[in-house]
Amino acid sequence: MLVFAHRGASGHEPENTILAIERALAMQVDAIEIDVHLLADGELVVTHDRWLKNQPNVPTRIRDLTLAQIKTIDVGKGQSIPTLDEVLQCINGQCLVNIELKADRTVIPLLKVMDRAITDWHFQPSQFLLSSFNHHLLFELKTLNQQINTGALTASCPLDYAAFAERLDAYSVHIDIDFVNQDFVNDAHERGLKVFVYTVDNEQDIVEMHHLGIDGIFSNYPTRSLVKIAHLNSQQVPDLNPMIANSNISG
Ligand code: G3P
Ligand code: MG
Repeated sequence: MLVFAHRGASGHEPENTILAIERALAMQVDAIEIDVHLLADGELVVTHDRWLKNQPNVPTRIRDLTLAQIKTIDVGKGQSIPTLDEVLQCINGQCLVNIELKADRTVIPLLKVMDRAITDWHFQPSQFLLSSFNHHLLFELKTLNQQINTGALTASCPLDYAAFAERLDAYSVHIDIDFVNQDFVNDAHERGLKVFVYTVDNEQDIVEMHHLGIDGIFSNYPTRSLVKIAHLNSQQVPDLNPMIANSNISG
């Protein structure tokens, strides 16, 4: 089971900041999930909400702001909202990155940043997983580049389970923990999709996800999750030695 640091190591540092990314890297996570919005001047920035929080005197919808304006704001511990370029430069190809698109018109600028990351910051194309609740954006991505790995987000358990993700030719389906169940997981796996579940911090939830056979979790406290998963894996009965298994089959 992979562990994605959700918004970086957001249980420890202000979410989606360089501090949260650096903390996640220090924890040697498998992957880092970040949220991306588009500014008025076309820059992609890493932040979750469409509005800035705790800015009493200014209307602060992210899409109305420029990079110069956004860089004046402290989002905690002296951190500013980073650009996607800054975050990918910081990660520098050290782990998988799940970029969640939170806004329209993000696909083209995203592809440009990814090109820079592959050329300049030691990323392989396979280290990117692009997700969104807006499935039209995922369709657009696949239309522009068939090789890109996409993750179809859902906060529901549809009647036809993971069929929507297969139709999108997605790599994975990312589902809210409140709605995942064994039927959904089995259906997704039969369609060749990975199943990643958000947001899983509670130890009992981690055990439940392990039993469901899911492929990864999004965690705000990655070290705690990595330790729990390692413990669960150590309790598993090891596979039969293939030599012995073969000799049994051939009699
Ligand atoms: O990508 C998984 C999860 O982050 C989706 O929900 O609201 O935390 O971005 P949210
Ligand atoms: Mg997210």
